[in-house]
Amino acid sequence: MESGGTSVQRPPLLSIGGVPLVKYFAENWGEVENFQARPDDLLISTYPKSGTTWISEVVDLIFHQGDVEKARRNPIYLRVPFLEFAVPDVPTGTELLRKMPPPRFIKTHLPVQLMPESFWTQGCKMIYVARNAKDVAVSYYFFYQMAKVHPDPGTWDEFLEKYIAGDISYGPWFDHVKGWWDKRHEQRMLYLFYEDMKEDPRREVRKVMEFLERPLDEQVLEKIVHHTSFKEMSQNQMANYKTIPTAVMDHDISPFMRKGITGDWKNYFTVAQNEHFDAEYERQMKGTDLCFRTEI
Ligand code: A3P
Repeated sequence: MESGGTSVQRPPLLSIGGVPLVKYFAENWGEVENFQARPDDLLISTYPKSGTTWISEVVDLIFHQGDVEKARRNPIYLRVPFLEFAVPDVPTGTELLRKMPPPRFIKTHLPVQLMPESFWTQGCKMIYVARNAKDVAVSYYFFYQMAKVHPDPGTWDEFLEKYIAGDISYGPWFDHVKGWWDKRHEQRMLYLFYEDMKEDPRREVRKVMEFLERPLDEQVLEKIVHHTSFKEMSQNQMANYKTIPTAVMDHDISPFMRKGITGDWKNYFTVAQNEHFDAEYERQMKGTDLCFRTEI
């Protein structure tokens, strides 16, 4: 991907239906809203920084029977185009998808209420991955710094306040995870958790294989688990986003493949921030049967 020399330097977010989005994405909204999904599309949906790239690599490998060379055919953002993606002078997500032969894998971070209608009416399969809110906050803070389509995140404390208020790209984490959770029985949806994938990747990859109706033998499963480990993916140029120009993503500020662990929030949240966050979490998650593993 080339940035074509056009600056993408930190424009303010723009609201679509009350949800703040990266300005370029919002400016291309008409294309996204009218996107025509196909019944054989596979949608990969996440709140940002929840393991999108990881699950995308898993899906692509399952479809290619664990053939690692086939998975190296293109960077992950071309193998699994990003539906709402748009920056100046490069093909948008919808442009890439229109040219893609089926079956298409489609990445999105849109909250459920902003999804183009055709995904629901076409009955596409969907995989949603959710991650612990606090680890997402930390990962997003570093991502905001390195991915320059975002406004300046400010200090960690300032960013955390914005995150709690939902005043960040894609809006509140709380609404996102709950919105997709509530849709899971209406659609052909597999709802996964990053923490489960870390705990037992074999078990979780097996779930994906079953959901996709692509049974593979144990040897292939092992190969997929190995190739999609954080260690392997962070060194894989076709998965680690290092092929994106520095003007758009600067890995010297923070690598896209940053740590890939659970519980890193403990290194960043102060006691006061943690208490404030827990109170807000309690308030926002009250009444839902969606449970995150709080021991992590
Ligand atoms: P950290 O910043 O906590 O390291 P996304 O792909 O949704 O943008 O998510 C990126 C987060 O997932 C980053 O988290 C990244 O390091 C982590 N990640 C990417 N690939 C991973 C893998 N194979 N195993 C574990 N974590 C991974």
